[in-house]
Amino acid sequence: MTRIAVFVGSLREESINKYLAKNLERLAPEGTEFNFVNLNLPLFNQDVEASNYPADAQAGKDIVEVADGVLFVTPEYNRSTPGVLKNAIDWISRPWGSNSFAGKPVGVVGASVGPVGTAIAQSDMRHILAFLETKQMGQPEIYVANATELFDEKGILTDERWLKNLQNYIDIFVAWVEKEK
Ligand code: FNR
Repeated sequence: MTRIAVFVGSLREESINKYLAKNLERLAPEGTEFNFVNLNLPLFNQDVEASNYPADAQAGKDIVEVADGVLFVTPEYNRSTPGVLKNAIDWISRPWGSNSFAGKPVGVVGASVGPVGTAIAQSDMRHILAFLETKQMGQPEIYVANATELFDEKGILTDERWLKNLQNYIDIFVAWVEKEK
């Protein structure tokens, strides 16, 4: 079994990034397990990390620590990574000396309603993930631009071209995680 910790950088009920993650889960090779991390966490505060580390952040840390790989599915907010995602990463990278991301094979994908398709947010993510000593998959990349009409009311993606892209991505990502873990 290949265990993938999944971060969706949006708390929105009808998030296109949640839909993107769910479609990747549906298309993933047999034997792949997606474990979604809860990003609805308190704001990081260094005063409490040693004395009162939040249970929900610890649950995310536990998911990452047992995962073979980590997949970040991110919106783009103001040409960068959303605060909820960065906040969760900050918690899970701590306390000092216990960065749960170190050595993990990671992938980054994203969907946006605009034409840039989260390219700038993903680029920011790659800086953060380099510092966190992850192993990043370089190719293929997924930038889902102009995504408003791509998903049906149940969040299913039906566009043939995108289905092919997503299938290709998840097959290569899971095989790469297996090799790198
Ligand atoms: C956005 N959006 C956006 N889109 C984009 O392509 N580049 C950007 O820089 C931004 N900036 C931005 C800032 C803020 C605060 C919000 C709320 C939104 C639009 C964004 O693509 C759209 O809201 C997506 O639907 C967000 O993803 P989820 O929540 O649907 O997964």
